[in-house]
Amino acid sequence: MRYTQEDGTERWNRNADTWHRHYGGKDPNRRDLLDPIILKTLGDVKGKRILDAGCGDGYLSRKFAKLGAIVTAVECSHRMLAIALAQQQYQPLSITYHNGNIANLPFLSDCSFDAVITNNVIQDTADYVGAFREFCRLLQPGGIYLHIVNHPCFSTPVFGWVKDEDGRKLHRKVDRYFERGPFLVPWSLSSGMEPTIAWHRTLGDTVNSLISCGFRLSQLLEPEPPESWYTFYPERLDAARIPDFLILVCTKEMTGC
Ligand SMILES: C[S@@+](CC[C@H](N)C(=O)[O-])C[C@H]1O[C@@H](n2cnc3c(N)ncnc32)[C@H](O)[C@@H]1O
Repeated sequence: MRYTQEDGTERWNRNADTWHRHYGGKDPNRRDLLDPIILKTLGDVKGKRILDAGCGDGYLSRKFAKLGAIVTAVECSHRMLAIALAQQQYQPLSITYHNGNIANLPFLSDCSFDAVITNNVIQDTADYVGAFREFCRLLQPGGIYLHIVNHPCFSTPVFGWVKDEDGRKLHRKVDRYFERGPFLVPWSLSSGMEPTIAWHRTLGDTVNSLISCGFRLSQLLEPEPPESWYTFYPERLDAARIPDFLILVCTKEMTGC
């Protein structure tokens, strides 16, 4: 089945309320694992112009704005955006929200951002090269693009844990790594989420596209569980065996504005 961006967006419309109830800022993956890395990498964000591309319910935009950043947020799912806007009404912050596709952002000006972040978005985006091109256009020279995705080496079109007869996880199954394109991502029954649509690309596809769009790769990170999870979330320690996420810290070349 050849899924389109519109199919993916429709899935996020249907999942938005469940996502907001259980994930976003409440998700330990974000709160304990990714957000500390994001904040450390970007440093003091006070006064910085940040684009939260694919902002979902806006939890990270609000976090940045509370720290004094000037935030622009783009989201293609109208239901996700409605949730973000409802929070904004309840607690107005320095965030400008737009409904749009991050691969086509004509309403944002060249060289107008210090940092761009996609927090688990690009695997759900059909035109990832178009998005990288837009981010390079929007960043000022030396600006940072923080790319966070489900790790493409371990979240392939066929992935999961191989278990023994008692349900113990033996090892991770990974297959069809070179099969690029959209596939259905099942979520656990307990999550209440309908399957979403992801686009698989190899690590090489991503890194080489970033470079050809004008970025330099400054750092590659594979977050490991924090100490606190050994006490509070032992069920999450699969992440100490196989990384769930890949983070690429990219810098825009010093030319182009
Ligand atoms: C896994 S959610 C992550 C949301 C948010 N960044 C977070 O970390 O909570 C992925 C989000 O990316 C959005 N998205 C996917 N492709 C997009 C695109 N091309 N343009 C704008 N938003 C997109 C989806 O609608 C969804 O809200």
